[in-house]
Amino acid sequence: MVKRLFIFERYIMKKIAVFTSGGDAPGMNACVRAVVRTAIYNNVEVVGIMHGYNGMISGGEEFIPMSSRSVGNIIQRGGTILKSSRSEGFKTKEGRKLAYDNLVLHGVEGIICIGGNGTFTGAEIFHNEYGIPSIGAPGTIDNDLYGTDFTIGFDTAINTAMEAIDKIRDTAESHGRIFFIEVMGREAGFIALASGIAGGAEIILLPEISEDINEVVQFFKTRELNKKSFSIAIVAEGNYEGGAFSISERLKREIPNFESRVVILGHIQRGGSPSAYDRVLASKLGNAAVEALLNGEKNKMAGLINNRIALTPFHDTVCIKKELNPDLLKLIDILNT
Ligand code: F6P
Repeated sequence: MVKRLFIFERYIMKKIAVFTSGGDAPGMNACVRAVVRTAIYNNVEVVGIMHGYNGMISGGEEFIPMSSRSVGNIIQRGGTILKSSRSEGFKTKEGRKLAYDNLVLHGVEGIICIGGNGTFTGAEIFHNEYGIPSIGAPGTIDNDLYGTDFTIGFDTAINTAMEAIDKIRDTAESHGRIFFIEVMGREAGFIALASGIAGGAEIILLPEISEDINEVVQFFKTRELNKKSFSIAIVAEGNYEGGAFSISERLKREIPNFESRVVILGHIQRGGSPSAYDRVLASKLGNAAVEALLNGEKNKMAGLINNRIALTPFHDTVCIKKELNPDLLKLIDILNT
């Protein structure tokens, strides 16, 4: 039986749960740490759920009591100590019923979920069915969530991509080659745009912009005429013309003299120690998420807009498309001459 405590009419939860879900992102640990320590500061118990929604469904050893100590020495670590999953089980009514039973068994009254689109969609459905309130913190390298200027992990990921681009540029110049570098981002071009600008790329192909491939070919032909011997092209993985391999093949057919290579950066963008920016962002948002939950908010994501904490309904974070920064988009053509 859950004991209810009222202070000045404000109901204080006794126990909340925290978990990480979806693709991991550097800074998730810093966020878990902030969640646990903010809850303890407010005299609220915290249980950590391992492996995201899959752990919620399995229960048992997947539910771990958290203390200040259990989140010590993790702020600098990549990955997530709570592990993660993309749960198929939670998409089913049966799975969500098992998850609810486990939360009740552990006396959990509210949830902090750290993840992206899929995580928040699941939390909202769960609330509609069982009434358990959730607050989210945006944890994804993709930066594709409406309601926050930056997601936790994005800054580290673009720095990882930029360092890789710098290294590739050295060898591109030595051999006079075009490199097509594919970066992550699912259906969003935030990583491609930021890392491409930071890495001085000549071409940045984004899922949001329907670039005419013939113009891309023409761009490289002009560079050839101008004796520009090497180039860096960034291709977002969700680019509509296809991935880096297919674009490179197309170019090879059109400009046989140009030697090209393809690099897929892949999951290295998801790992590594979080940047200072991501650690601070994760700490702020983890804290804000717990404060919001304890203040009676639900089904919202805690984000940062213009450097201020903002709560946005899950529905909007998932359904409203976040736009790429138009000032950055303009820079692509100005700086690649
Ligand atoms: O978490 C985001 C992300 O890294 C996307 O950029 C990418 O499309 C996807 O996850 C890859 O997912 P997985 O690791 O499950 O293959």
